[in-house]
Amino acid sequence: MTSFPSKRLRRLRVNENIRNLVQEVRLSVNDLVCPIFVEEGLEKKKPVDSMPDIVRLPLSEVSNEVQNISDLKIPAVMLFGIPSQKDEKGTSAFADDGIVQKAVSEIKNNFGNKISIMADVCLCQYTSSGHCGIINDKKIDNDLSIETLTKIAVSQAKVGVDVVSPSAMMDGQVSAIRKGLDDAGFNDVIIMSHSAKHSSSFYSPFRDAAECAPQFGDRKTYQVPFTNPREAMREVEADIEEGVDIVMIKPALSYLDVIAEAKKRFNIPVSAYSVSGEYAMVKAAANQGWIKEDQIINEILSSIKRAGADFIVTYFAKSGAKLISDNS
Ligand code: PBG
Repeated sequence: MTSFPSKRLRRLRVNENIRNLVQEVRLSVNDLVCPIFVEEGLEKKKPVDSMPDIVRLPLSEVSNEVQNISDLKIPAVMLFGIPSQKDEKGTSAFADDGIVQKAVSEIKNNFGNKISIMADVCLCQYTSSGHCGIINDKKIDNDLSIETLTKIAVSQAKVGVDVVSPSAMMDGQVSAIRKGLDDAGFNDVIIMSHSAKHSSSFYSPFRDAAECAPQFGDRKTYQVPFTNPREAMREVEADIEEGVDIVMIKPALSYLDVIAEAKKRFNIPVSAYSVSGEYAMVKAAANQGWIKEDQIINEILSSIKRAGADFIVTYFAKSGAKLISDNS
């Protein structure tokens, strides 16, 4: 066995060319999915205070934004809607003329298959309670909720969504949605479930962006505790049994171990959602001049990939794509 002084690991770090040759993890623009917020009734773009450079878009701006994203060669967008009406049953989430349904059809008409359209399937932006399920007798009624989630997914499929992404963490949501989609003739629509979505304080800026904070209690009865990685694996396993196509671990940065474990255990694409709090922390520090934003973005996205994510939903999609094209 060779060892120092004949073995020298620094030899492969001698210059950039050699480092490039032996680089193990490479970020590509194909690793990125860009979230978009679209708000009903909005007249012009509205900044999200807690997420610098992120805006809520009016419907009329959606195609412009998708054009920018598509010009960067980002393969997919993830749509989140903010409706003008909320009610107990979250009806605006599955209305034929709901904000997400309109946005999906607009993008599909203008871009066809040039960019893939993913859409969030959840209730919290649409229910007066701000919860991801329907309340019955002061409790979140799981089985009632999955019926509504199925209606949402089918309504999005009708207007041409490519991927539905349930994020409500209700038991059985994947099998209910798969059945609903298949019965309605949408057997090609992909399900990417937020399989292991943890109950996390990293979501607070998103709740500003999407106006979906729970009006009472918290999400601990449905989201996974961040202390329980084995339970997270049971969630992933359950979704696979129910017929999910892509699983997701969320958040990403504090959950790299969970991403790595899911990748090792299961033979299915694993995505990661680098959430609003991860974005806000980087932006805040960068705006103070305390970190170099570009280098941090590269390091964070690379580490999520290194952990095993096949791709990443990230608010840094556009800036990440620019960095990748500058460096290649
Ligand atoms: C709601 C939803 C949330 C996020 C995505 N979908 C918030 C929550 O569960 O409170 C968070 C995304 C982010 O923080 O970027 N179903």
